[in-house]
Amino acid sequence: MTKRGGGKTESIDHMKTILCIGAGYVGGPTMAMIARKCPEYKVHVVDIDAARIKAWQSDNLPIYEPGLKELVKASLNRNLFFSTDIARGIAEADIIFVSVNTPTKTFGQGAGRAADLQYWEKTAREILAHSKSDKIVVEKSTLPVRTAEAMERILRSGRPEAKFEVLSNPEFLAEGTAMKDLENPDRVLVGGHDTETGRRAVKELVDIYAHWIPRDRILTASVWSSELSKLAANAFLAQRISSINSLSALCESTEADVAEVARAIGMDQRIGSRFLQASVGFGGSCFKKDILNLVYLCEHYGLHEAAAYWEQVVRMNEYQEDRFVRRMIAAMFNTVAGKRIAVFGFAFKADTGDTRESPAIRVVRELVEERASVVVSDPKALANARRDLADIADRVVFDEDPLKGAAGAHALAVLTDWADYARLDYARIFAGMVKPAFVFDGRNCLDHRRLFEIGFNVYPVGKRPLSHL
Ligand code: NAD
Ligand code: UGA
Repeated sequence: MTKRGGGKTESIDHMKTILCIGAGYVGGPTMAMIARKCPEYKVHVVDIDAARIKAWQSDNLPIYEPGLKELVKASLNRNLFFSTDIARGIAEADIIFVSVNTPTKTFGQGAGRAADLQYWEKTAREILAHSKSDKIVVEKSTLPVRTAEAMERILRSGRPEAKFEVLSNPEFLAEGTAMKDLENPDRVLVGGHDTETGRRAVKELVDIYAHWIPRDRILTASVWSSELSKLAANAFLAQRISSINSLSALCESTEADVAEVARAIGMDQRIGSRFLQASVGFGGSCFKKDILNLVYLCEHYGLHEAAAYWEQVVRMNEYQEDRFVRRMIAAMFNTVAGKRIAVFGFAFKADTGDTRESPAIRVVRELVEERASVVVSDPKALANARRDLADIADRVVFDEDPLKGAAGAHALAVLTDWADYARLDYARIFAGMVKPAFVFDGRNCLDHRRLFEIGFNVYPVGKRPLSHL
């Protein structure tokens, strides 16, 4: 097999090989970017999930992310390969990224808080079993601080002829903007040991990123600092959302407007304006899991006050989701039983089909519990929504078309900030709804004044309702 790289044709079998174990939201996009930017590397992505691998090789990628399809296409089967042959992938690799899932543990010690490291540990053992030469092993997954130590212990327990250097290189991309984040990140973080082999491994990884990222944005740190920085970054981001959401509750009680408050505080450069958008709550696979992981670590080291501080960020988020439903019920004369409610958006944010920890899950479940008749629409997330609500599927209707969902409804609940929702013909929607008609905008993404003028009773988050009643 030959391939053109750096202007000359070379055998792909002699190119340096990067392997990524785990072809998910992080592994797939990250490796597609590295393959594109580093044509002299062969990039191989493996997964135990054969259907997922097949999808990566097709036109129908397993995840939706703007710009991803084009990026994968540019390198697929040139220097980017997907397969389920993990053993061969490990044997051939010079650098191995591990990007498997690290969900919250649901059993035993630390259940509901600690990270479930079973997939991670299995990978370490597989690397050990199939390695015949030295490798750099890169932690891409988000892991509790000092996990690299466990990885190193497992890797050192085998044959002495293969040596391993473990690095931490957490990923900071956000879904929906993954391509932009990978192409132009605020920073890349590489953690390594301050030893000769450690420094050499760090340099090799830094040089890969330096193909397209300015060197002053590529930070190096100790492995432990790097691991902890990832948990800390997510905790800080989520904390900002919980902080503004806590104020949104106070705004609703005092007629202050949370958007005005956010603007006023965000213009202070020491605070900054981002991640101050009040909402029905934050979702996504990582914020809650990573904070709970941080809480568990603090508890483990006996730092109970620090644990309680961070745990409150998650509790505030749950409060916000519950509060949203309580406000709906109160506004609709204290009952939603038998009322049709059109849910606009099920993804945890716009521009993704991902529904993991989406606030919509809790909101829809609570509405169904109240015997509302719920119709869920979403442009990209309906398949996942059906899975998330499988146990109550007989009590929920799914329809891709929000207009159909809204026909005959008593209320609209906007739970994802899809840009298309702001462009719908609300006068027409209003005409087809039961009166009085309500809008509960959990993302503050609609034109509330205009909706009110059309005739809706409008309930934004953290703002005074615009009501005709
Ligand atoms: P994901 O669930 O989408 O993908 C993980 C993949 O790993 C799955 O396809 C799974 O089949 C595979 N896998 C599990 N065990 C395996 C094994 N032994 N061998 C081969 N494959 C295996 O997860 P994700 O969202 O890509 O997240 C991966 C890691 O990155 C997590 O630690 C997460 O916290 C972190 N992270 C995620 C995001 C994000 O936006 N999703 C951003 C930054 C960091
Ligand atoms: C987040 C971080 O932003 C990434 O840096 C990190 O890499 C990633 O988690 C991860 O570790 O998985 P992501 O969850 O994809 O990325 O998306 P965000 O843009 O952070 O949004 C998370 C949630 O917060 C969404 O539900 C979003 O709607 C909500 N949000 C965000 C708000 O409610 N208000 C805001 O101001 C911002």
